[in-house]
Amino acid sequence: VSSPSETNDKLQKICQLLHDEIPHYNWVGFYFRNGEKEELILGPYVGAETDHTIIPFGKGICGQVAVSNETFVVPDVNLQDNYLSCSIDTKSEIVVPIFKNGQNIGQIDIDSHVIDPFTAEDEQLLNYVCSKVSELV
Ligand code: SME
Repeated sequence: VSSPSETNDKLQKICQLLHDEIPHYNWVGFYFRNGEKEELILGPYVGAETDHTIIPFGKGICGQVAVSNETFVVPDVNLQDNYLSCSIDTKSEIVVPIFKNGQNIGQIDIDSHVIDPFTAEDEQLLNYVCSKVSELV
């Protein structure tokens, strides 16, 4: 069993690896549900600093995934209404939920500087990462 700081180290390394190895992953981070509250808290991430350290359920792409329990691919963020902008460089985003014991406990969030880069391969990879993260947390 890992301590919270060991878990955070592992999550940080996962962010770094994905960010460094996949050219279209320009911001990689985790959000987790804040206990029983209907909000997400920013976890480990790599990329530009963000103002969105707490996201209420329903708000933005992340907040919508907290409610829908489904992966959300946004090919072009400029065409999204319910979107929280972190950086003007971000053009697209994918958010994949993390389930533990059937509960949606958080998500991985990837921002890209290019339009429409995410394919079924990204979804497969990120589903795999999320299943592994679920065993860590
Ligand atoms: N764009 C996200 C907010 C988080 S940042 O991308 C890091 C959203 O709309 O929920």
